[in-house]
Amino acid sequence: MAVSVAQRLSAAGTANALELRGVTRMFGALAALTDVSLTVRPGERRAVLGSNGAGKTTLFNCITGDFLPTLGTIRLFGEDVTEFPAYERIRRGLRRTYQISLLFTGLSVLDNIYLACRGVSRGRFSLIRPRRNEALMHSAEQLATAVHLIDVRDTKVAELSYGQQRQLEIALALAGAPRFILFDEPAAGLSPTERRELIEILTNLPAHIGYIIIEHDMDVALRVSESVTMMHNGRIFKEGRPSEIESDPEVQELYLGGGHG
Ligand SMILES: Nc1ncnc2c1ncn2[C@@H]1O[C@H](COP(=O)(O)OP(=O)(O)O)[C@@H](O)[C@H]1O
Ligand SMILES: [Mg+2]
Repeated sequence: MAVSVAQRLSAAGTANALELRGVTRMFGALAALTDVSLTVRPGERRAVLGSNGAGKTTLFNCITGDFLPTLGTIRLFGEDVTEFPAYERIRRGLRRTYQISLLFTGLSVLDNIYLACRGVSRGRFSLIRPRRNEALMHSAEQLATAVHLIDVRDTKVAELSYGQQRQLEIALALAGAPRFILFDEPAAGLSPTERRELIEILTNLPAHIGYIIIEHDMDVALRVSESVTMMHNGRIFKEGRPSEIESDPEVQELYLGGGHG
């Protein structure tokens, strides 16, 4: 019997990067997410838009395993990870950044990245290797370059600008060969110049790395994504290409009318 193209692709491991089916998350009587179904292909870059309380961060928490969904399933690269703890998802190439900063402010830029690289590599609990691993150091330098921080590699994090600290967080998410990254409002609080830098960093990430970016700034969101999911009251309200979403009257009304911010 002939093998279809779809079967071959599937056998070659080209399952969807992410597949949510009917995901609902309750907090007591409050439904933070209701019946969310979402498919993201490998390497796809998706923006998630929606006003405060729409359920965007809860969506991330369910995907990473920080919270379990109340109902529904989550597949990561074809594997059902609905019940998996967060570290098992990290092992499979999933990363995230948070809305709050989680950096070692007393250490240098390169030390922070080095520690992240070491943290996700094998043998991290070995006590008989006190010396720096050259391969990991090389990876750390490459990541510093990727996020435009190589010139401040030896600067302490506490001395970086706010925008540079956010860039460093992206480097940490890139440690250990990720395949899919969740960015939670990386442009929040950035100056116009820092925003442009962020856009450049995101658009220049290796093509095989897909992501979802939660972003309030429509300009940033539409420039770094090829697909957009609009959320409202815990549900998916609309999906489309950036140009479709931008010109959609319902989206404009929801986004530009009150409630957003
Ligand atoms: N840990 C939690 N406990 C209780 N309610 C929560 C929790 N996290 C989020 N919520 C509620 O779920 C809804 C969605 O929140 P969230 O996912 O943070 O929205 P967004 O990131 O889109 O602003 C909000 O009503 C929020 O108050
Ligand atoms: Mg949020």
